[in-house]
Amino acid sequence: MFMQESETTYNYKVVRQFAIMTIIWGIVGMAVGVLIAAQLAWPVLNFDIPWLTFSRLRPLHTNAVIFAFGGSALFATSYYIVQRTCHARLCDDRFAAFTFWGWQLVIVAAVITLPLGYTSSKEYAELEWPIDVLITVIWVVYAYVFFGTIARRKVKHIYVANWFFGAYIITVALLHVFNSMAIPVSFMKSYSMYAGVQDAMVQWWYGHNAVGFFLTAAFLGMMYYFVPKQAERPIYSYRLSVVHFWALIFVYIWAGPHHLHYTALPDWTQSLGMVMSLILLAPSWGGMINGLMTLSGAWQKLRTDPVLRFLIVSLSFYGMSTFEGPMMSIKTVNALSHYTDWTIGHVHSGALGWVAFITIGSMYYLIPRLYGRAIYSVKLIDAHFWISTVGIVLYITAMWVSGIMQGLMWRAIHPDGTLIYSFVESVQAMHPFYIIRTVGGAFFLLGMLIMAYNLWKTIAGAKPVTATIPVPAMAH
Ligand code: HEM
Ligand code: HEM
Repeated sequence: MFMQESETTYNYKVVRQFAIMTIIWGIVGMAVGVLIAAQLAWPVLNFDIPWLTFSRLRPLHTNAVIFAFGGSALFATSYYIVQRTCHARLCDDRFAAFTFWGWQLVIVAAVITLPLGYTSSKEYAELEWPIDVLITVIWVVYAYVFFGTIARRKVKHIYVANWFFGAYIITVALLHVFNSMAIPVSFMKSYSMYAGVQDAMVQWWYGHNAVGFFLTAAFLGMMYYFVPKQAERPIYSYRLSVVHFWALIFVYIWAGPHHLHYTALPDWTQSLGMVMSLILLAPSWGGMINGLMTLSGAWQKLRTDPVLRFLIVSLSFYGMSTFEGPMMSIKTVNALSHYTDWTIGHVHSGALGWVAFITIGSMYYLIPRLYGRAIYSVKLIDAHFWISTVGIVLYITAMWVSGIMQGLMWRAIHPDGTLIYSFVESVQAMHPFYIIRTVGGAFFLLGMLIMAYNLWKTIAGAKPVTATIPVPAMAH
């Protein structure tokens, strides 16, 4: 019943396509992550083959997990949420399909060109100019479909999740266009339009806001819909969500210089970036508290509902990484953490704990409903939760220890000012931690494979959901 009714009311085809690709690209991107983690522990795994070296696979990993896995998840959920909360079908099915096929084409282009060594060498914006042009076209069409649907809404109100998605779509367009400005010298080579310190500043304005708007604001949009849905409770405070939204987007945009401490960037700019980063703690925690407190009075649900557990634990990791980030932006702390594995630990507490967990929880909610099926096995969701949680803990604690050790070894000096440790000694000291990180990553990947199996059996299985949407997909 739900399927028939919704199929004509809403465009679920494109949501399904993006949702499936989220799982597939998640597995691909994380498998590459495990490989590069293993390469750092055992360099022989570079195999002396240029296109399999760490240097080429690392950008493939970041692009695959952020833009293929995260991007597909955001397309899927934003298209779903905007339709459900506006009570309107996507404004144009053909344009929506164009964004799906176009985005997959961009990903395939990345999978081919990055291992071949084509790169603009700007982090998270490595793709060369023809692909950048394609991304711009797709993004404009995405904006048209999203805002066109909001314009067609049958309810007066615009639900807060859509505010977050709207801000992400507009800001990512700005960031991408300005940071990718380049002068092409051949079909696959271009040079940045900016030079020297301006280039660095524009790059980290982009890079930090890729974190702020792609990996944070948009996933908060996901949070504001799926947490209340799965908990079957209204969001804790709607007023807080509005304050949190405006505060977050106003502050994030200024914090980029914390990536350029102790560089040629003017000192006052670095300090301003640090202060803005410290202020950013407040709106970030406002969002976390709003999500967590939605469960107030219903915490017992966490015991029985592993989907809710993914969603809520993701908020704890969000709180943790948005506490750690402001600390790392303090110049004296950054003097220790910069260039070390501490940064990598921070990245993955955000990436695995927040981004991947909120996505996983949302997909467990969404996919069974999109196919009108009850979930195949709740026990497997539970297993997935524990395996991936152990994986994250192994990953980030290994990086904290190795990062701080690295920083301390590099700065240790004899009374006469000479270094106590050579660089190679610090590399040797990292070895056990790189092995632990690889194991942690493998755990996380194993969890994703369990999820793929469970959802595959769900879709292929014959357990139709007869009830309408708010009923949790817990069959047993
Ligand atoms: C199985 C899971 C994963 C493993 C094993 C893994 C492993 C790695 C490794 C080994 C690096 C290179 C570290 C270095 O250069 O020292 C890396 C970098 C990175 N990964 Fe992952 N990763 C995983 C999942 C993810 C996910 C899901 C995301 C994002 C949603 C992500 C985002 C990043 C980013 C942004 C960087 C670059 C960090 C920086 O430059 O500071 N990773 N990852
Ligand atoms: C209040 C929020 C946050 C602040 C103030 C913050 C601050 C920082 C700082 C100071 C660094 C180290 C810069 C360096 O030494 O090079 C950093 C790196 C990074 N953070 Fe955060 N962080 C925050 C939240 C997050 C979240 C939630 C995520 C992920 C979802 C994230 C992803 C990253 C990434 C990918 C990098 C590595 C960038 C690179 O060098 O490639 N951050 N962050």
